[in-house]
Order: sequence, then C-alpha cells, then structure tokens
Amino acid sequence: MKKLLIKGKKKLNGSISISGSKNATLPILAACIFAKDVKLSNVPFVKDISTMLELLKFIGMKIKILNKKKEILLKNSNKNINTLAPYKLVKTMRAGVLVLGPLLTKYKKAKISLPGGCAIGSRPVDLHLFAMKKLGAKIKIKNGYILAECKNGLIGNTIKFPSISVGATENAILAAFGAHGKTVLLNCSIEPEINDLILFLKKLGTKIQVSGRKIIIFGNSVSKEKIKHRVIFDRIEAGTYLIAGALTSKKITINKIQPEIIKYEIDILKRMGVKIFIGRNLVTITKARNLKKIDIITKPYPGFPTDLQAQLMVLMTQANGLSKIKENIFENRFMHVPELKRMGAKIQIKNKTAFVMGPTRLTGAEVMATDLRASVSLVLAGLIAENRTIVNRLYHLDRGYELLEKKLKKCKAEIQRV
Ligand code: EPZ
Repeated sequence: MKKLLIKGKKKLNGSISISGSKNATLPILAACIFAKDVKLSNVPFVKDISTMLELLKFIGMKIKILNKKKEILLKNSNKNINTLAPYKLVKTMRAGVLVLGPLLTKYKKAKISLPGGCAIGSRPVDLHLFAMKKLGAKIKIKNGYILAECKNGLIGNTIKFPSISVGATENAILAAFGAHGKTVLLNCSIEPEINDLILFLKKLGTKIQVSGRKIIIFGNSVSKEKIKHRVIFDRIEAGTYLIAGALTSKKITINKIQPEIIKYEIDILKRMGVKIFIGRNLVTITKARNLKKIDIITKPYPGFPTDLQAQLMVLMTQANGLSKIKENIFENRFMHVPELKRMGAKIQIKNKTAFVMGPTRLTGAEVMATDLRASVSLVLAGLIAENRTIVNRLYHLDRGYELLEKKLKKCKAEIQRV
C-alpha cells in the first residue's frame, strides 16, 4: 500500500495549475450517452474518471484517452448498448448512478446497482428515484439494483425537490433531456458543475433555462451529435491549494481558474486575515501573519462547500481563538478529526459542529485517510506539522486529486509517495 511522506514546516513558493473538475466531468461523461461523437478537454485523469470511463465502455461506448492532451474522445454507435451499471463499477464510485437518467430516457430501461454508502454517510438515492418516477418511470429495487423502465419514454413534468441534491438534480436534468415535452425542476442544486453540464447539453441542441434554483428543460431535441467541450476548473482543488497557501506559503499563485466562482471561499480566507490578490484567471495568496478565528456552516452552492470543510478545519487550528464549523450536508463528515487530534489539534465535536481551538502546534504522525477530502486535510496538516507525517490509504486521495505531490513539490514542499 502506497503512502505519502511529508516533511513539515517548509515554506511553499511557486504556482499551481488547477485541473479540470472531477465533479463536472462525471455528469458530462454520463451525458455523452446522448451524443455520437464527443471531444472532452481539460479532463482530470483521476481514479473516479477512469472508473466512469470503464462504466461507459461496459455500456458500449468507444473511448479514446489522449493523456498528454488531457482529452477524451467518445463515440456512441448505439449498437449493442448494455443498459446495465454493475455493482463492481458503482460500488467504488457512486456517481455511476448518473447513467440512470440517460440510459432510461434514451433506451427506455436501465438496471443500475444501488451505490453503497461511504465513510461520509449513507448516501441514499431516493431523490434520484423520486425524479424518475415523476417523469413516468416504473422503478423497482431488487437484489441491490434499481430496475427502471418507461416503455413509451419519459414525459416532462414539474418536479420540486424536497431537499437540495447535486446528484439528483443532475440525474433529473439528464432524464428530462430525453423526455417528451417540458420539465420544470424546482429547488435544484446550482453548483458550477451543474452549470457546466447544462452548457454541454445545450451544445447538443437542447433548450435549457436556469433562474435561481429553477431549471427548465425542453426535452427530446438533440440536433447536434458531434460536439467539443472543455471542462470547468476544479473549484475544490483550487480551494484546497488556497488553504495550503494560507497555511505555509511565502507566495503561491493558483492559476487556470475563474476567481468569481470561488468568491465565497476567497472572502472567508480574507476575513481570517489571509492576504489574497485576485487576477483575471488566477489568485495569489501568502501565509497570514495572525489568523483570525471564524464560524462557518457548510451549505449548497453558493455557500461554503462541504468538500472544503476538512481542509478549512486545518487552517482553523492555526487561527487565534475558538473557530466553529457546522457540517450541514453530510451526517458523518468529521472522520479527519481523530487523525488531526493525533497530530495535536484541539478539536471538540458537539452534534454536527466542530469547535477548533487555535493556534496549536501540530506534530507529524502516521495517519489514515477515510475519504477524499479528509485525506487531503491530512496532507495539509502534514505540510505545517513538525517532523514527518505519513498518510496512508492514498486510494482516497487518488480518486480526486490529480498530480498532488507533483504540484506541491513544484512549490518546494518535501513530499513523496513511497
Ligand atoms: C456531490 O455528491 C459531490 N459528488 C460530492 O463530492 C459533494 O460533497 C456533494 O455533491 C455535496 O456538494 C459528485 O459530484 C460526484 P448530494 P452527491 O446529493 O450528489 C442527501 C467529493 O468529495 N441525499 O448533494 O452524492 C445526501 O445524503 C464528493 O468530490 C439524499 O438524502 O451529494 C446528503 O446528505 C463527496 N437523497 C445531501 O443530500 C438523495 O437521493 C447532499 O447530497 C441524494 C442525496
């Protein structure tokens, strides 16, 4: 099992290019089921993406990966299409459930493995199935699979989500894309990754209107089947390296981003006293002299993202006073806390809020990752801890961070994979 060795307290200095967004690429890959010939660029080559490509190949799409150019070419001949997403491909990557909408609406049936829960929570898909049923699908759950069908195709409808869900919004948009007539989705997630999916679908010829949390899709109007699309930058990766800069750097420049999309996160760091310069497609950050404590609640976009909660907690350990961070999206997303405490962090959890006392001196330790974002928070802690930190279970990290060691080494971090 590979580990990361990190020698702490190095001053980072340099620039980091942000990769394309994993969480935008995944629903867009599912949407490729509607197209004949797609060229995707700025694709992050991380584990979740290769798993999704395995799934599309299993379904019957032809895929060509141009690693160097970070491009993927996908062709769909619509012959021998397998409308099945098997357990072995969905169990490690729950976004596999996003092929439900496209397969069901295009081929009138789909058999999708129920995605298991994971470390951060039970991760149900009831909202996905709620949307499919509202569009006229017959849904059965049997032997751990979702059996969905709609003999005469899906019919547009008005769907008001009882709670905001990124994946359910994406699946509903994909299903409505192939449905007969208009679908109005209410109380939608409006993450930038969903906007990127909508941009992709519009290139296929569909009319989609967004206003606030309402999305209107005029289905069944594919006019173009050969399209190109450049995936949006990864705002969570960008936020992660901004926090790395706030923790350690003389000066770090994060480039290839759209700063306006991470305005909220930048404002939070500024409120904590971090010096930030905002350029057209870059942000420069230097370590804060004395960090101010802060209180945060994780919220759907445009609020503070749950995917940055673990990373911000590391910065809070260096702030003066008692910071608070309430995890409002997932029921169990504090698994990084016991590991941070083993490195000397002073954190108490009450209900869904972590109380973080700072500033505390962190010391290197051997630690274990439990999910994608918890693992990167342990890397951030290792960057500022005395002596050496060893991070285990790197497969979590490799699901969503492209070339992490390379990007940090380029900024003078002492980090290596062994
Ligand atoms: C997406 O997961 C992201 N994954 C997650 O990022 C991210 O943390 C999450 O959105 C929230 O922003 C991808 O985009 C691939 P949700 P998703 O549906 O769609 C509950 C990462 O680190 N819920 O918005 O699964 C759910 O349990 C990953 O890249 C239901 O109750 O998240 C959670 O409490 C981690 N029923 C809340 O809604 C449902 O049918 C939000 O989940 C669906 C969700």
